[in-house]
Amino acid sequence: MRTLIRDLLGATEASDSIVAGGWVRTRRDSKAFSFLEINDGSCLGNLQVIVDHGIPGSDDLHDMTTGASVQVEGRLVASQGGNQAWEVQATSVRLLGKAPEDFPLQKKGHSPEFLRSIAHLRPRTNLYGAMFRIRSRMSFAVHRFFQERAFHYIHTPIITASDCEGAGEMFRVTTLDPTSGKKQDYSGDFFEKATHLTVSGQLEGETFACALGQIYTFGPTFRAENSNTSRHAAEFWMIEPEMAFCDLEGDMDLAEEMVKYLVAEALENQDGDLSIFEKFIDKGLRQRLEFVAANPFERISYTDAVEILQKSGREFEYPVEYGHNLQSEHERWLTEEHFKRPVTVFNYPKEIKPFYMRLNDDDRTVTAMDLLVPGIGEIVGGSQREERLDVLQANMERHELSLEDYGWYVDTRRFGTVPHAGFGMGFERLLMFVTGMQNIRDVIPFARTPGHCEF
Ligand code: 4AD
Ligand code: MG
Repeated sequence: MRTLIRDLLGATEASDSIVAGGWVRTRRDSKAFSFLEINDGSCLGNLQVIVDHGIPGSDDLHDMTTGASVQVEGRLVASQGGNQAWEVQATSVRLLGKAPEDFPLQKKGHSPEFLRSIAHLRPRTNLYGAMFRIRSRMSFAVHRFFQERAFHYIHTPIITASDCEGAGEMFRVTTLDPTSGKKQDYSGDFFEKATHLTVSGQLEGETFACALGQIYTFGPTFRAENSNTSRHAAEFWMIEPEMAFCDLEGDMDLAEEMVKYLVAEALENQDGDLSIFEKFIDKGLRQRLEFVAANPFERISYTDAVEILQKSGREFEYPVEYGHNLQSEHERWLTEEHFKRPVTVFNYPKEIKPFYMRLNDDDRTVTAMDLLVPGIGEIVGGSQREERLDVLQANMERHELSLEDYGWYVDTRRFGTVPHAGFGMGFERLLMFVTGMQNIRDVIPFARTPGHCEF
């Protein structure tokens, strides 16, 4: 039976007979022995294997180069060297698969750009191995956060006929003609209507919140926005809670609680994986995360944010004007230089926000909220929803949404309407925040961005 390297490195006692498998990271040779460092992906650490040149399989040592796969049998013994507690004295080794000289990952460091071009191999590096283990654990923590609070996990559809954000940034779903391989014309389309990949599960999520009370979605979402930035991907994962009997304040509270919970998770429970980000990406990472987990966030209205920005004396690339969206440079200035902590901005002008947000009594603003964090900017966007049927219908008319197509959505307001609120958190942006990685392409296994879908 194979034992994971994670368990071997964390062993409490020596063992006479273990089996381990892994990919060779390095090999050093001396006269009578070779030292293999192998990694099986279970943890950041490598297992040191001492191979006596006489043991079965050692004839293949010259092919056990970086990237080759091996299986090792032997004794787990206390390590003589200082780097680790345990090492393996092999009694036999087996070369499973060679990695010829063109194996692209060699010992020298590689640039993130190069590694993106070999996204299928980059999880074999220490940094990206750690990245994707953290991504896995953080996904699980998202579920734990909601399950502990009695939220129900709802699978909202990926193919949809509605446009939640009304920004026209949807990927159209079409079928291919099986014989010609050409796109079929619209009338012959599978669903007999225009359908798209979802930009958000919110609208469908609302219908479930208005039945099960508290729900969340966590799945892939798609945006055809042609913004080639380090924070936008065409396919990203979003977490969207939705709560009945909840207002804007409750919504902001939950977003703050969730960010803190996930940051605390990143600090605590990553099997040492976070350390590589501290070492190579951001020396101040732990300190920054500890501060976020332990201190209250700032909350200000959009109107106040605009005023603070205008009085900042800072020359922004885009001037700050009431009625315009905050740009990422504004968001970053607020969080990094002014408040020096995460900031939730609420009550945005209605003209720049989607139809479903609840209109405030001032008739100018809606109950939108964006949670901004240092280094990234917006990580969460949400709102209290317009639960009043007449106001919602007026909004929909203004946004030229057909009451017929969205009849199912309007039903939530026709039958037992209830104040409710929710938000969406970009999972990749959260991962960037907790690891210090600067580019969204480096926190998702296979990034889809304008011009890039190689895999
Ligand atoms: O602010 P957004 O567009 O809000 C919504 O979609 C709402 N329907 C959510 C809701 O209320 N249920 O997106 C929410 C979050 C953003 O704050 C950002 O973190 C992330 O999703 N996001 C993206 N992440 C990566 N790439 C993109 N292109 C993103 N667009 C949004
Ligand atoms: Mg937003």
